[in-house]
Amino acid sequence: MDLIIKNGTIISPTETYQADIAVKDGVIVAIGKDFTEEGATVIEASGKLVLPGAIDVHTHLAMPFGGTVSADGYLSGTRAAACGGVTTVFDYPVQRKGKTILGLIDEKKAICEQEACVDYAFHCCITDLNDGEILEEMEKAVAEGITSFKCFMVYKKEGMMVDDGTFSKLLMRAKEIGAMINVHAENPDLIDLNIAKFKEEGKLSPWYHYMSRPEFVEAEADKRAIHWAKNLEASLYIVHMADKEGLEAAIEAKKDGHDIYVETCPQYLEFTNEVYKREDGRNFVCSPPMKGKESQDALWKALRTGGIDTVATDHCPFQSYEKDWGKEDFTKIPNGCAGVENLYPYILAAANSGKISFNKAVELCASNPAKIFGCSQKGSITVGKDADLVIYDKDKDFTVSVNTMHSDYDHTIWEGKEFHGYPVMTFSRGQLVFEEGEFVGKPGWGKFVKRASKK
Ligand code: URP
Ligand code: ZN
Ligand code: ZN
Repeated sequence: MDLIIKNGTIISPTETYQADIAVKDGVIVAIGKDFTEEGATVIEASGKLVLPGAIDVHTHLAMPFGGTVSADGYLSGTRAAACGGVTTVFDYPVQRKGKTILGLIDEKKAICEQEACVDYAFHCCITDLNDGEILEEMEKAVAEGITSFKCFMVYKKEGMMVDDGTFSKLLMRAKEIGAMINVHAENPDLIDLNIAKFKEEGKLSPWYHYMSRPEFVEAEADKRAIHWAKNLEASLYIVHMADKEGLEAAIEAKKDGHDIYVETCPQYLEFTNEVYKREDGRNFVCSPPMKGKESQDALWKALRTGGIDTVATDHCPFQSYEKDWGKEDFTKIPNGCAGVENLYPYILAAANSGKISFNKAVELCASNPAKIFGCSQKGSITVGKDADLVIYDKDKDFTVSVNTMHSDYDHTIWEGKEFHGYPVMTFSRGQLVFEEGEFVGKPGWGKFVKRASKK
């Protein structure tokens, strides 16, 4: 053993118990009592919780978008992840039209080999089938451990949208090769119609970002995506679910036995559309937008009752000056917000206050993401799995400030939020990468996570 974590309270999705954890070569080798070994680093964790590292299955690092590039690259984004107890990130490289996806993945892997501070995986966003060439490439990507692909039902003018025909081809192909299709569901035509109308009327404040994409705009697309998946008997993962009606449709489909998964994000659990009335409303502009209280309540209910499978961040920050492009016109605001460092602290603070259990928090942020996306080495504190571990102090108070975050952005929608309870240490494969507010890892430490297909 080279690391022993002693006397902590271990949290699994189903159990809470006190034990020691022994780690060798980055892997959990034993869970038991009274471990000692000469030369091993010993961490005393009595009075603390020991949790599996979170898996943030939704980030956009160094992503060209909205006329710029998201403000966190692979180094700063994964550094921030480590400092928030996230030990694996799943990024979303976007296929450039007419280009291959395997080339894109190789490019991203080469950057991550130098920069990633925690482990990483990719879901590849497909924007163009290239006359079917991409359908062939998908199988090779699966063999390389990239077993999920994303399509956008929106972002038409950005050249990222796929039509229903392409979407259905992707669902069918994914089914053949044991992969998953992730979808961003909003109706692009309704959005365009609303935007044109608001522009004509001179209604350009951030509130009209919400008004151009209200609840039914997301719900319509959720239902359409679910309809396709059901009828093609394909797996579907709906990203960043924010509306009640779409959520209910997904829950119904799950009950009927369809292989449908739902993700939501902390921003939809914490904020409502009221934020778009604020002076700094532009900083909260992301898509889908925050919705009304009824949707928010439905999301919380579904978290508790199993209707939502994962919580991930959609981390896609932009600098203040970039958000300011839309001060006078919401359509010019780059869409996206920060979150990777706040995900686990936010959900764990919700557990600490009794809103959900700690076991549920672990299920949503670690074990379900690992299961759904085929990360056999990750997601729980189990002998044989990677020692991706977080030590959590239930009594530590923490107030979020951009100055104490570890990203490269200059503002955060989480500014001033108070958490009772906070991670004090993060281990990535047994290596300490975060301790008491400081990043202590190193770029290039993170490894590519090769995932299993559904076959
Ligand atoms: O506003 C967002 N969510 N930006 C990132 C891209 C996406 O839609 O996930
Ligand atoms: Zn999206
Ligand atoms: Zn996203």
